[in-house]
Amino acid sequence: MATFDVALTADRISAVGVVTERGRTEIDARGMAVAPGFIDVHSHDDFAVLLGPTMPFKVMQGVTTDVVGNCGSGVVPYEAAVRRFGRIHPGATPPSWTGFGQYLARVQEAGPSLNVAVLMGHGSLRAGAMGLEQLAPTAEEMNRMRAWVREGVEAGAVGLSTGLIYEPGRYARTEEIITLARELGAGGGVYATHMRDEAGGLLDSVREAIHIGEEGGVPVQISHHKASGQSNWGKVRDSLRLIEAAQARGLDVHADQYPYTAGSTSLYAVVQNGALRRDSSGAVGSLSGDAVLIASAPKHPAYEGRRLGELAAEWGIDIEAAAARIIQEEGEACFVVLFSMDEADVRTVLAHPSTMIGSDGVPAAGSKPHPRLYGCFPRILGHYVRDERVLDLPTAIHKMTGLPAAKFGFVDRGAVRPGAFADLVVFDPATIADVATYDDPCRFPTGIRAVFVNGTAVARDGEHTGARPGRALRRGGAPAS
Ligand code: ZN
Ligand code: CU
Repeated sequence: MATFDVALTADRISAVGVVTERGRTEIDARGMAVAPGFIDVHSHDDFAVLLGPTMPFKVMQGVTTDVVGNCGSGVVPYEAAVRRFGRIHPGATPPSWTGFGQYLARVQEAGPSLNVAVLMGHGSLRAGAMGLEQLAPTAEEMNRMRAWVREGVEAGAVGLSTGLIYEPGRYARTEEIITLARELGAGGGVYATHMRDEAGGLLDSVREAIHIGEEGGVPVQISHHKASGQSNWGKVRDSLRLIEAAQARGLDVHADQYPYTAGSTSLYAVVQNGALRRDSSGAVGSLSGDAVLIASAPKHPAYEGRRLGELAAEWGIDIEAAAARIIQEEGEACFVVLFSMDEADVRTVLAHPSTMIGSDGVPAAGSKPHPRLYGCFPRILGHYVRDERVLDLPTAIHKMTGLPAAKFGFVDRGAVRPGAFADLVVFDPATIADVATYDDPCRFPTGIRAVFVNGTAVARDGEHTGARPGRALRRGGAPAS
């Protein structure tokens, strides 16, 4: 096997190949893979990077850049963000900001262990402009949202995100989103979307996302591509065809995925979208009580790790009533893990060239978060590459590094070459593994030798070094000043 060296000088890679000089620090990486640091294109770490900047659950996976602001949950305006992220960080009020530029400055001041880029969450913009109003925005409300987006583009935000199943994003019609997408302008970032319906309406939802991209003149990123609910399994083959057809017409459209058959969101959103409702024949919606695991219940930690069906049986009521009772007690702070996907679909989406990797991890949400928060990236490399051979190692690495770096505009990242930023992961392809499970989710992966961010080691041999060399990233690559 050919061996080669990678030399780092300050924050960059200075040489790749045969290096004869000695390094101040040297790692023997024989038998290891040396990859660009992983880019998590789908995170919800907007407040977590400020409140706990060492971010162990991410850097221990090899993630060196985190894209926050997904699913319409964004940091601007500040008051809307505090309400929204208060569900997972109760009572947290980080030093305030007036726009995306100041948020990025706060990130830089906090000094996280990994790089952070921000999407502009439409749900927060809409809440700030017009509360939970269900109507179309007035011209004045629209102008407030447009002004926030313009400021974000100027400040280097990497795009606009929507969450069209959530309050209040779900009240936005397609035209409202197209208008905001147009504010991004050429080169101003991507449109990332948690679509209106990932179940029966999956294909119409993909069509809407593509339409917004084509009408708004922006690249599209479909969040956590999946077909939810057994009656919809297999539809990802058709949604992938829609993506291919749009690409053939010239649209820059991709998706991201976490490699699990369970999803996770707030119980409130599950109920609001009808997944537990009985129809007139008495049949339950797309989810059974067994398919819903309680991840977080701040007021009743004893619920965490239990199935909704078990609790309903104990209480002698049906699952819809049990969910209503929990929401009554917990409000929107109850997150659940939902066993709703087909393994064959997960593999079909993962193998497709349009798919990148995004954890969708929800930090700090109770004692039983979805294991993707700790295990997403190693699960791809261990389980799906080495053990199941769903894709080969270089292809998997590309989906986590070069492909997202190009799409989100991270210049000089996502590659191992001289001149690039030294964001690197050294891992053993023979042993890398996720060990986080649904029952025991807060466990760090194994098989990762070292993780570097901007030339500094943040993890060595399974231990966080405590270093915090991460930067706030602007679209186009220049660090935020
Ligand atoms: Zn989402
Ligand atoms: Cu999300």
